This record gives sequence, structure tokens and C-alpha cells, in this order.
Amino acid sequence: MNPAPSTGPRDGDPAGNGSPAAHRQAYLDRDAADPLAFVRERFILPAGLIYLDGNSLGALPRALPDHLQRVVTQEWGQDLIRSWNDADWIGLPARLGARIAPLIGARPHEVIVADSTSLNLFKLLIGGLALRPERRTVLTEAGNFPTDRYMMEGACALLGRGHRCLALTGDVDEAALIAAIDEDTALVVLTQVDYRSGRMLDLARITAAAHERGAIVLWDLAHSAGAFAVDLGAAGADLAVGCGYKYLNGGPGAPAFLYVAERWQEVMLPALPGWMGHAEPFGLEEGYRPATGLRRQLAGTPPILALAALDAALTVWDGVDLSALTAKGRQLTASFIALAEARLGAAAGRLVAPRAPTQRGSQVSFAHPDAFAIMQCLIAAGVVGDFREPDILRFGFAPLYIRHVDIWDAVDRWVEVMRAAAYREPRFNRRGAVT
Ligand SMILES: Cc1ncc(COP(=O)(O)O)c(C=O)c1O
Repeated sequence: MNPAPSTGPRDGDPAGNGSPAAHRQAYLDRDAADPLAFVRERFILPAGLIYLDGNSLGALPRALPDHLQRVVTQEWGQDLIRSWNDADWIGLPARLGARIAPLIGARPHEVIVADSTSLNLFKLLIGGLALRPERRTVLTEAGNFPTDRYMMEGACALLGRGHRCLALTGDVDEAALIAAIDEDTALVVLTQVDYRSGRMLDLARITAAAHERGAIVLWDLAHSAGAFAVDLGAAGADLAVGCGYKYLNGGPGAPAFLYVAERWQEVMLPALPGWMGHAEPFGLEEGYRPATGLRRQLAGTPPILALAALDAALTVWDGVDLSALTAKGRQLTASFIALAEARLGAAAGRLVAPRAPTQRGSQVSFAHPDAFAIMQCLIAAGVVGDFREPDILRFGFAPLYIRHVDIWDAVDRWVEVMRAAAYREPRFNRRGAVT
């Protein structure tokens, strides 16, 4: 149930020429017809706040605090160490991986929850490079998320065997990426949805092109998993990583996930051979023997409280139709673009997100010279998005809890912020440690 492709900026806006009240009502009508409307109740959201930052930190699932409390007081407090077996704490990384798998088109045994996205990137970089030992190039784009770049450079340097990271610069499109894959490309490492612009790469197309040239692809799904339906299986994907705290709502610093296609699982040795990835962790053998399957990608003791939070967070997906998720994300972003351009004109800044809904994640960005101050002022007005260097106003639309009327209200508040030029006040120019 994908919507028809957009042919113009006004396409997403249901009632562009009505009175403001009628216009807003058209958004409420969309909410009334929204097949995912029931899911918002599964979250705790501050009254009056329009939270467009679920692509940075997902909202709090309603079931999470009680579940965490029970794990702390009962499973830890009363049952103590027995819970590793009795509550199957030891099985949580694989169980949660199996719950994430359908969101990304993987089979249950192809996903496991562990460590952070950065660490998983590193593990799969080292593991992936070993799958193509005769090749030396890791291909990416310069605009990829910094941790991806740093990890690539670090992995190449650490291996010390002449590997190099080739980061394409400029306005890199899919054709340019594909053209750069050659017989020396061991790994192509890409973030599917660009964290700044929201541009979405065609995962299946790039994977197929890389395979044609004998390369492996490592996808970063940080801004994909839980934002729209991903289909790693249909794409024949090799490796992927993703975040637990963005669209999966596992809480600040939640554990991440990694995906290794079944065909690579036994071939790829773990880069970090820790005891939890040993065939028999409690055999306490002198030598390392990797576990069969994905469990070998675990290194140390799993963080049970953080996993318990993610466990509860994943219950929000019960009964969610993923095609409706994709469709809603596209509709929310389309109407946000249409309304912002119609009501703010040049004051919105320059749209940097793709206009075609199929080429965009569930995120919209505008470039504006005063982006930082405007975003601070918007936050003060109850619209929480974020700022990204150098000049990006970034708005994320988590389809599980953002309503259509939130789009109308957010743009309405943005109009006020620009009309009053309140963002020029010095207090909106003070930067905290985290932007
Ligand atoms: C695309 C992308 N990859 C990786 C990360 C970093 O993940 P972590 O800090 O959890 O390791 C982020 C964080 O926002 C991201 O946006």
C-alpha cells in the first residue's frame, strides 16, 4: 500500500486552500482513518509536545517502566543469579534479535542484539573484510555518519595490510556509488538513510550491483529499522547494523543489533572473540572455539537491564502492519514538506530531503543559515527536532506515534517562530554539549 509517487510539493497536503480550521481538520480526519493510530497509546508522550526527534531518541514505551521495575525487583532483586537460566537472561540477545528480524526482512536467527552500533560496525567491518581477503578497498561516501567513517579508517589501519577507505565526496548518488565499486572493493559500507538529508538509498539495487562485482555490503540501518519496512532478505543482503534507541525506542544508549546473512555466519570469524561468543562459555576452555550461528558475535556479558528495556519496547510492534508504517512515514514527510513550503516559503530554508517519497527516509531536513537558533526556538515552542552541523534543521517522524495533526501544528508553530523572529534572542544561540 505504497502511496503514488509525489509529483509536486503540494501533494502531501490534504486541504491547501481551506480556512486554517478546515485545513487542520483535514489532518485530524487523516488521523481518524490512520490504521496505526492505536499504536500511539503504547507510548508516554508529554502533553502538548510535538516530538519530531524519534530518529535520535525514540519515545518511552508505556510498558517499559513496569517491565524494567519487575526485572529489577524480582528477577534481579529476588531471583538473583538464577535469572540467567530461569528468566533466560542468557537468551535475551538472540530473542530480541528474532523480534527485530521481521522489521528488517531478516530471518529470526540472522539478527542478534549486542553492543553499540559503532562496535557492531567495527566487528562486521573486520569480519566482512576477511570474506574478501584478496581485496583492499572499503568504499563509502564522505557524508556517511562520522562513526562509520572512523570505524572504517580504524579497521583498515589496524589490519595493517594495505586496506584503504575510499570515501566518495560531493553530491554522491546511487549511480556514482555503483560506478565506484570495482574488483578491489572488498566492502561497501553505507548508511541507508542519510542522517543529515534523509535521502534513502536503494538497498536492493546497490547490494545487487556490489555482488555483481564480487563485493560484500555492510548496511547501517540506524535511520531505517523501525522507520519503514526494510527487506534485507529480498535484497540478498550480507551484513547490517542498527540502533536500538532511535525508531526501536529502547531508551538512551540502548543496545544495538547486527545482522549477518545465514550464508556468512559460519564462514565469518568474530573480530572480538569473547567468552560469550564461545561455543561453550561455561566450559571455560583455554582456547577459543566460536559458537555456531550468530551467538559468536557476542563478546562479553549482555547488559540485562538495557536489554530488558528494549524487550519491553519491542512489544509496541505487536499487530503493526509494516506496509502501513512505510506508507504513513511517506505521508507524514510529504505533508510536512508541502505545508512548510506553502506556509513558510523561503523562510523554511532550502529543502535538502529528496522530494520523491521513495527516496526519503522518515525524516525531513531544511538547510537554513540560522538553523541552530531556529531549532532552539522551536524546541522552546514545543516542537522538538534537532540541529545538525553545519546548517541543518532536522525533523524525524516516527510513524508509530506521530499524528497527522502534529504536522499541521508543528508547521503552525514554526510559522510563529519565524514571524516573531524570536529565534534571534541570544538565549537561542547557546550550545549545549549535545545538539
Ligand atoms: C547512521 C548512524 N550510525 C551510527 C550511529 C552511532 O551509533 P552509536 O553511537 O549507538 O554507536 C548513529 C548515531 O546517531 C547514526 O546516526
